Amino acid sequence: MLEVRGLKKTFYSGTFRKSCTKAVDGISFSIRKGEALGLVGESGSGKSTVARCILRFMPADSGSVLFEGTELLGLSKKEFTRIRPRIQMIFQDPFSSLDPRLKIKASLAEALDSGEAGKAKKDGITEKDGEVLRLLKMVGLGPEYADRYPHQLSGGQNQRVALARALACRPSLLIADEATASLDVSVQAQTLRLIQELREKSRFSLLFICHDLELVRHVCERVAVMYAGKIVELGDVQEVFSFPSHPYTRQLLSAGGSETLPEGRPAFFEKEVNGKENLLPDHGLVQVGSNHFVLCSRESNLDY
Ligand SMILES: Nc1ncnc2c1ncn2[C@@H]1O[C@H](COP(=O)(O)OP(=O)(O)O)[C@@H](O)[C@H]1O
Ligand SMILES: [Mg+2]
Repeated sequence: MLEVRGLKKTFYSGTFRKSCTKAVDGISFSIRKGEALGLVGESGSGKSTVARCILRFMPADSGSVLFEGTELLGLSKKEFTRIRPRIQMIFQDPFSSLDPRLKIKASLAEALDSGEAGKAKKDGITEKDGEVLRLLKMVGLGPEYADRYPHQLSGGQNQRVALARALACRPSLLIADEATASLDVSVQAQTLRLIQELREKSRFSLLFICHDLELVRHVCERVAVMYAGKIVELGDVQEVFSFPSHPYTRQLLSAGGSETLPEGRPAFFEKEVNGKENLLPDHGLVQVGSNHFVLCSRESNLDY
């Protein structure tokens, strides 16, 4: 349902735009319907830039973003506005994604309006109030929260409201960019559980951006590990955790505190077992297992 191909974004700065940062350096991945893909990597690896390019908060330099069969990057503003509600995003800081002057119910009503181009408006006030309460209930908040302002809620509660807002118009893709990073550990766990529950119910796909590989293990079916603008490893979560093959993935795993780091596949694995047809020139990734791909340097061919 989402297919990103060869996405690139470079930032230029300094006199005569001399210095450049290849924030996203030709990455490709896809997300199936209802699937959760984790995009993981240290701060500055380009994760947020990927999200911003998908949602056209900033123009990509090149590449393609196919969403439910439509190429997003080539769309006119008007056409993109029509599709835009189908993709929703939640951010690290829930306060910044909510209008501090609006009561929670107004915030949610506004999100309902933006959904199906005014359909909610016709339904009249009472029905919309009902919808607002339904949304609150969906994220585990009682009706008493409808009349409060964001500053009267905790960080975790505000993130629930942000989630309710995002899901108000039943998107088919939710992008969560470090959405639980600012929350206490226990609230973080609750929020993740809530996202899981809602995903089971509503079947939206999830792009879960996170710097913590451990969280991805709990939330996602597949993971893409990003380093310096490139995807260095991509695969089923089970596979990648059992056989982390890129040195950077292995480093991330050991930084996460796992004492016994699982062994990566032997360096010759893909040559002997899979042969040449598994080289994906478009990706620059080599297949090392069923549904498991690793970036390797051209010279050494996985000889890390
Ligand atoms: N608007 C911008 N202007 C210039 N450089 C940027 C901008 N946004 C991000 N960058 C740079 O691009 C790289 C990737 O940033 P980002 O996508 O925010 O990483 P992440 O989300 O993984 O922490 C970083 O080096 C960052 O400094
Ligand atoms: Mg970021």
